[in-house]
Amino acid sequence: MIAPIELDGGIELRAITQGDGAALAAAYERNRAHLAPWEPERTPEFFSATVQEREVGASLRRLAEGTAIPLVLVERGDDGERIVGRVNLSDLVRGVFLNAHLGYWIDAERQSRGLATAAVGGALHFARRAGLHRVQAGTLVHNAASQTVLERNGFTRIGLAPRYLRIAGEWQDHVLFQRLLED
Ligand SMILES: CC(C)(COP(=O)(O)OP(=O)(O)OC[C@H]1O[C@@H](n2cnc3c(N)ncnc32)[C@H](O)[C@@H]1OP(=O)(O)O)[C@@H](O)C(=O)NCCC(=O)NCCS
Repeated sequence: MIAPIELDGGIELRAITQGDGAALAAAYERNRAHLAPWEPERTPEFFSATVQEREVGASLRRLAEGTAIPLVLVERGDDGERIVGRVNLSDLVRGVFLNAHLGYWIDAERQSRGLATAAVGGALHFARRAGLHRVQAGTLVHNAASQTVLERNGFTRIGLAPRYLRIAGEWQDHVLFQRLLED
């Protein structure tokens, strides 16, 4: 059970839910240029509500089987809910590893207000509740804002992984970080 967490500014961190597809498509469209340097190349279909709703379904299946904790940051206005960020714990592995990978982004209009720092803190809470021992994250070498977010949440640098992920169409080096959850 993922109970929602209230963040500053009336923003809620909650589990993704069926029906979020349209709001996710709108968020990805608004943030197309903002996210492009930091994410995989996207197909045109990625920005449609249909594809996003299908992705929501896949995320919910992973949540149910215990291999992911997909979260969204939601702002409520007169015109309904707007998604202003995502935090995702993926590839939850049990056994001797008890590990997950962490990814996140925040809307271009909501930058530098501490939202990512607070949302990652919330994700760590859910990771502990899931009984995990460790969370790993990787940032592009020049992603100083993301590195600040991780360090403020107690992550430590564990190394440099050459050509680790294909971001913006190129295999790019990443700084790897880990957070041990008992610390
Ligand atoms: C990285 C990202 C998630 C940070 O979100 P955010 O809500 O702005 O983060 P926070 O406000 O919690 O903290 C970011 C800190 O980095 C600082 N910062 C922002 N841009 C910076 C830059 N270019 N260089 C150095 N520091 C920077 C901010 O000022 C803030 O510090 P402050 O609180 O002292 O002002 C957001 O910029 C984003 O979505 N970027 C695109 C996607 C992305 O990079 N995702 C992470 C992939 S690893």
